[in-house]
Amino acid sequence: MAESHVDIDWNALRAAAEDARDHAYAPYSDHPVGAAALTNDGRIISGCNVENASIGTTLCAECGLVSELAKSSPAGRPARLVAFACVGPNPGPLLPCGRCRQLLWEHGGPDLIIDRAGGPTPLSVLLPDGFGREDLPEHR
Ligand code: THU
Repeated sequence: MAESHVDIDWNALRAAAEDARDHAYAPYSDHPVGAAALTNDGRIISGCNVENASIGTTLCAECGLVSELAKSSPAGRPARLVAFACVGPNPGPLLPCGRCRQLLWEHGGPDLIIDRAGGPTPLSVLLPDGFGREDLPEHR
């Protein structure tokens, strides 16, 4: 994958995450979440959490984000995620849950930069030794 050289505007990413959070459907947890990411072709995409009565099958904000990533990219060739920011109901960055770290790994890899209270942090720090497609036979 070619290295990308897009500038990261963290304020714009956080604002997009906050805007997405306004669309969250979280009547069960009362914990609205918005996520936004910069792609290697210079776009900002976003998603919000969408809950349902079967609470364990809730869609995290990152689920919506990766769906938007695929839908807004050339068919079958999703753009790559370069930088990611997530917000919940409280001030400051929200770190993605474990399952969503795997979703982000698939589309951003270890170098995806995550907004974090201590400063932007590579995904490889949040998900060490992550499992990816190169761990499958013949790099499926
Ligand atoms: N949530 C997300 O949307 N993303 C995360 O990474 C953490 C959790 C949502 C799921 C659920 O709707 C609510 O936050 C409370 O767990």
